[in-house]
Amino acid sequence: MSLTTRRRLRDIYQLTDFEAASRRYLPRAVYEYVRNGAGFEVSLRRNRAVFHRYLWKPYRLRDVSQVDPSVILFGERYAQPFGLAPTGGAAMTCFDADKLEAAAAYRHGVFYALSANSLTPLEDIIRINPRTWFAAYLPSDTDIIDGMVDRVAAAGYNVLMVTIDVPVAAQRVAETRAGYTMPIRPKTRAILGGLAHPGWTFGTMGRTILRDRDPRIVNIRPHGGPGLFSSEIGAVGGSSRFTWDHVQRIRDRWRGKLVLKGILRAEDAARAATLGVDGIGISDHGARLLDSTVSPLEVLGEIRRAAGDMTVLVDSGFRCGGDILKARALGADAVMIGRPFLQACAVAGGAGIDRAVTILSREIARDLALLGLTSLPDLGPDLLSDVYTVPFASRDGDER
Ligand SMILES: Cc1cc2nc3c(=O)[nH]c(=O)nc-3n(C[C@H](O)[C@H](O)[C@H](O)COP(=O)(O)O)c2cc1C
Repeated sequence: MSLTTRRRLRDIYQLTDFEAASRRYLPRAVYEYVRNGAGFEVSLRRNRAVFHRYLWKPYRLRDVSQVDPSVILFGERYAQPFGLAPTGGAAMTCFDADKLEAAAAYRHGVFYALSANSLTPLEDIIRINPRTWFAAYLPSDTDIIDGMVDRVAAAGYNVLMVTIDVPVAAQRVAETRAGYTMPIRPKTRAILGGLAHPGWTFGTMGRTILRDRDPRIVNIRPHGGPGLFSSEIGAVGGSSRFTWDHVQRIRDRWRGKLVLKGILRAEDAARAATLGVDGIGISDHGARLLDSTVSPLEVLGEIRRAAGDMTVLVDSGFRCGGDILKARALGADAVMIGRPFLQACAVAGGAGIDRAVTILSREIARDLALLGLTSLPDLGPDLLSDVYTVPFASRDGDER
């Protein structure tokens, strides 16, 4: 590890440390794009505050000298009950972020979902990490759906996640105020932000443009996608006519495991199960779409009951090993984590992602032992006390 990387990671002890640290290395527009949530960010704060509702009741005097946090998802064993959520625009946080995330996940034996909003061809990513999942944004056009399903299958993916919670493009105010636009437009505020962060301008954006000339969102459509600077980008955001009929069509065509990401209602989970879907992601998209939704953790129990045999993933606001274990206790199989990995990438590239995975893995091992447990199947609702209704989030959103 270089001296610079060591220095950048020196004060990182918890996942939340990456957010403040990333602010130093990212232009304001990109920093806000990663950090911010929709509306008044009520859900963003609430997704953190909700963890206070459930408190531990640990067992004592048990042998916890050997703990095993591994988990089986879609027939594969993973070293940890968490993985890297699909995050579009990752390459704006550091050079080749898609590849760095894929490689780090493989090194650590955790799962990784490549977003369709990415710059590296999905065919290249699966060569780096043969266990990568693909997270598609699909329109209602059946030729495009079929073409995408066939492309992902031909590349050798086994898990296709379809993100179902973006019928229309979202709006987030903080990133807009900071000058973030897609397609990228040289707005004064964004240019000033770039000038203030030459390391990012040359090391991330400049290097990407130098190599790719016209960086494109290559995984959004069967034969590629629009450039980051092209107005055609608007045409691939949102899919307001995408419905359950399309899910049925995908199920009929896709032989691998199918996951629907973005479920927040028990009856939607039940419907997914009747269609033969293999897994669901309970998620409010990291509070980036509709403000003031229920927090995924609060509806996890009822959705788990409706989900039958499906694998249940959950995300939005998980920031430490204890959060992940609470989700397990309430019925999730595993947790997806988004922002911290992008912020870690911005701080120290692949070494940053390594640090983030290591922090979480150590927290999980330590907390399992402190709970008096040695493996995840031992973890159930008996370990938790549901103490009170969630208080309104504190001003900084994190009372921890
Ligand atoms: C910058 C950013 C980009 C995202 N892009 C996608 C995406 O392309 N597809 C998707 O299904 N979810 C996307 N998400 C949502 C994440 O997969 C995940 O649901 C969310 O980040 C979890 O919340 P957390 O960031 O609080 O951990 C994105 C999230 C962020 C922060």
